[in-house]
Amino acid sequence: MSPKSQADQKEYPPLEHVPFHVGIIMDGNGRWAQARGLPRLAGHQAGTDNLRRILRATVEFGIKILTIYAFSTENWGRPESEVSGLMRLMERMIDRELSELHAQGVQIRHIGRSDHVPERMLEKIQHALDVTKDNQHLILNVAFNYGGRKELVDAVRAIVADGVAPEAIDEALIDRYLYTAGLPDADLIIRTSGEMRVSNFLIWQGAYAEYYVTPTFWPDFDKDELYKALVAFDRRERRFGVLS
Ligand code: IPE
Ligand code: IPE
Ligand code: MG
Repeated sequence: MSPKSQADQKEYPPLEHVPFHVGIIMDGNGRWAQARGLPRLAGHQAGTDNLRRILRATVEFGIKILTIYAFSTENWGRPESEVSGLMRLMERMIDRELSELHAQGVQIRHIGRSDHVPERMLEKIQHALDVTKDNQHLILNVAFNYGGRKELVDAVRAIVADGVAPEAIDEALIDRYLYTAGLPDADLIIRTSGEMRVSNFLIWQGAYAEYYVTPTFWPDFDKDELYKALVAFDRRERRFGVLS
């Protein structure tokens, strides 16, 4: 048996509570590459390849919604060559993976803004959303050109534009104006590469998420690592501010 098929057949003891909605801050591609003496884009390529196996593992572990942080509104500030390289990699990822994701029943959604995004990329994103819109197996929210604060700004603008009366504004209404409208809050947010910060990711929807940080760089974060995060989540006691 090849090492790969051995890994595929590995048994993972069942968990009591599998998080319904998991967010991942896929961080550390640059440092992964640097540690190997490779250019940063090689790290982004490895990170993109890793996404494929983590998506498969996500479905196997029974997670229903996965929100991945792919590109933040702040990431435009990186060197032009890195930004354009990332756009190219992401376009290629859509081209290569769309049919398999569709066959696996993955519904792709985009959360984030459209401004600054190259026209061709926008068309590819729209195509991916259209093709997969009726799939029900896993919702994959791609946070691309996403910022949690900009999401709140966009929500406030839309609320004002709709002429909503101040007394009608409550948490449920704000929820309905977010990019994630209709989806439940994140239960577990994983950050790879060891940084202990939120970096503007799901700041509203993560208000009561459990956080899990691993020093592993994103390209090395595999199915075993995901399972470890789920075990840690399973052991947490979620109190939501009340007494247990
Ligand atoms: C995460 O990896 C991917 C993106 C932000 C697009 P980084 O590129 O941030 O990698 P590090 O943090 O510099 O190692
Ligand atoms: C967060 O990582 C954004 C993504 C993973 C897409 P960053 O690398 O941009 O965050 P900081 O700069 O370490 O806070
Ligand atoms: Mg980073």
